[in-house]
Amino acid sequence: MPPSVPDFLYGTAWKEDRTAGLTEMALRAGFRAIDTANQRRHYHEVGVGEGLAAVYRAGIVTRDDLFLQTKFTSMGGQDHRLPYDPDAALPTQVAQSMASSLQHLGTDRLDSYVLHGPSSGYGWTDEDTQTWTAMLKERDAGRTRLVGVSNVSLRHLLQMEHEGLERPAFVQNRCFARLAWDHDVRAFCRERDIVYQGFSLLTANTDVLRTRLVAGIAARERVTPAQVIFRFAQAVGMLPLTGTSNPEHMRQDLASRTVTLSADEVHAIETVAL
Ligand SMILES: NC(=O)c1ccc[n+]([C@@H]2O[C@H](COP(=O)([O-])OP(=O)(O)OC[C@H]3O[C@@H](n4cnc5c(N)ncnc54)[C@H](OP(=O)(O)O)[C@@H]3O)[C@@H](O)[C@H]2O)c1
Repeated sequence: MPPSVPDFLYGTAWKEDRTAGLTEMALRAGFRAIDTANQRRHYHEVGVGEGLAAVYRAGIVTRDDLFLQTKFTSMGGQDHRLPYDPDAALPTQVAQSMASSLQHLGTDRLDSYVLHGPSSGYGWTDEDTQTWTAMLKERDAGRTRLVGVSNVSLRHLLQMEHEGLERPAFVQNRCFARLAWDHDVRAFCRERDIVYQGFSLLTANTDVLRTRLVAGIAARERVTPAQVIFRFAQAVGMLPLTGTSNPEHMRQDLASRTVTLSADEVHAIETVAL
């Protein structure tokens, strides 16, 4: 992983007016990396900023202790509460969304800025190239340390590469066990030193948590099946996300890094749903 990339991300989606309190709780619990988006439909980025301000005030962490990641969401993924002028050109929308995110989060630089999703599920488009190029400009101007893409297929990533575009530092995807936990995208990432961030590790794979394999390891290690899955994710090189709203689950999710899995168990979990 690039230096100062943490091993767990706290996700802030779908928390509405609990966002500030839950962000603060997660940071007090020990999370040091936050994922959000300037997409009011699913996130309340202003609330994340309020949670950050609360922990700074309390002297728990400083900005430099944290990894802050947010996203640019194009019109297709937004509702009417837009963080940019809908009539502006894409590069202007990126610049406006970034300025708004920095203001929401009370910072002058992000650690990671992620393209929430390409404009088409079928392939990388010229529009995506424009957006990506604008995001790289934001990076070059010092407003983010790293850039990434989300909700991408292997095809999108190969097309980016064929176009000669700068490769992302991160790929953030929903991770299905029945696809060997996004095996092909993860393999592409591993070969290129791209950090793969996995979300919906629990919710997309509820059957896996109930398998004898995962339940058995959990019983032996005296942890929960969810902790086994998060540890597995880290063991295969993923940076997992959790969006738990439960303080006990926050503690458990962070403690999953100490769960012991053998190489055979990691392989067995990787292929459990194939
Ligand atoms: N790029 C994208 O398009 C995209 C899409 C979706 C999500 N995300 C990001 O990923 C983050 C995580 O989202 P997610 O889809 O993975 O879902 P999530 O919001 O993390 O939900 C996970 C579910 O697992 C439960 N959970 C968490 N830890 C647990 C534990 N130790 N034991 C038992 N249950 C546990 C939570 O319940 P409790 O609250 O009761 O613990 C919750 O119901 C989001 O907040 C967002 O930042 C990104």
